[in-house]
Amino acid sequence: MQRAIELAERARGNTSPNPLVGAVIVRDNKVLAEGWHKQAGKAHAEVDAIQNAKADDQTTKDSTIYVSLEPCSHHGKTPPCTQAIIDAGISTVVYATSDTNIDASGGAESLRDAGLEVIGGVCEEQARYVNRFFFHYQEHATPFVIAKFASSLDGRTATRTGNSQWITGSDARKHGHVARQAVDAIIVGAQTAIADQPQLTVRNPDAHRHTHPAHPLRILMDSKGRVPLSNSLFDKSLPGNTVVATTDAMPDDHATKLKEQNIEVIKLPISMQTHYPDITQLLKQLGKRKIQSVLVEGGNTVIGDFLDNELIDEVWAFIAPVLIGGNNAAPSIGGLGFDQLSSAPRLTNVTVEYLNEDILVKGILVKNKSNGVF
Ligand SMILES: NC(=O)c1ccc[n+]([C@@H]2O[C@H](COP(=O)([O-])OP(=O)(O)OC[C@H]3O[C@@H](n4cnc5c(N)ncnc54)[C@H](OP(=O)(O)O)[C@@H]3O)[C@@H](O)[C@H]2O)c1
Repeated sequence: MQRAIELAERARGNTSPNPLVGAVIVRDNKVLAEGWHKQAGKAHAEVDAIQNAKADDQTTKDSTIYVSLEPCSHHGKTPPCTQAIIDAGISTVVYATSDTNIDASGGAESLRDAGLEVIGGVCEEQARYVNRFFFHYQEHATPFVIAKFASSLDGRTATRTGNSQWITGSDARKHGHVARQAVDAIIVGAQTAIADQPQLTVRNPDAHRHTHPAHPLRILMDSKGRVPLSNSLFDKSLPGNTVVATTDAMPDDHATKLKEQNIEVIKLPISMQTHYPDITQLLKQLGKRKIQSVLVEGGNTVIGDFLDNELIDEVWAFIAPVLIGGNNAAPSIGGLGFDQLSSAPRLTNVTVEYLNEDILVKGILVKNKSNGVF
């Protein structure tokens, strides 16, 4: 099962809205074939493994398949995996997590009905973690939110004059593209767009997306339309699409000009607390578009709004061994913050990676309102 989960991870960024799934077919303690779901619309992991066994002249009769997600039993873009497993003569199915997608679930039951031995829940926690975007989306109908920032050792994301390029080294910045590669959308605030002129495309050659769209949807939070039309995010030659999330405060002629530049404008209600566009409503709208994951790239005001609303699910903090100092230098996360340490969310599943001189701390946020499901 560990191997099946490892295989699933290979397609990160290429399967949305489908989950990541890997499969290994075994008989007499020998691996006969492996497979994984490579892209939405392409063969599911079980079918890929069965096809690979066939291509290798291996018979799958009376074998065991280990698969990181319960096999589906429905006709989607591809036929049901349960039937392919039965047709391949496989006698035992071991899976990690149940499929919570209403259309695809029920596979274990139909395999048992067909007389196969079925064991579920093996390495379940690990497999749920791999598919945390998918499971979060199934449960909440809104995207899983990752907040990413680069900070100095003393927690600043820019100097007091707003200088922030570059805090971390090239390895860390390259790694930032791995996060972009994995998600369906990226969010930035108006001030970051103005200060940094970002492109928000996936540019690390190691972090290539094979899927359509090849670049995540770019979302600019700009309540009043103050980001000029000449901004890099509105450049017509950028691959993929850009959306501006705004309010009624954006002048009509600015909205019209954006639309003329093929930029979609989403008008959101204003949050009564912050007077910014309501990000809870934004996430609901993104959910309706089947966007399962978003990366909030800053700046600290936007990330602060997500934290204050308890909407961050995961953090990627790139920390550089540099001291910026200054009470007026922007912190990694702005907003209101928490009154008490006891209510401040702590990270779980924490990992630490060294990227040359910088470190990347990643973790999942445990939220009071969450029931602990990714
Ligand atoms: N080190 C890093 O990782 C990193 C990453 C990104 C940026 N930066 C730096 O951070 C600085 C910019 O950060 P910042 O905090 O000043 O600005 P920001 O977060 O990029 O943008 C804030 C602005 O976005 C608009 N906005 C729209 N909807 C919002 C919402 N729901 N919540 C919050 N803001 C919303 C508001 O302007 P309107 O009211 O006009 O809409 C707000 O003033 C720059 O110096 C940039 O270089 C650093």
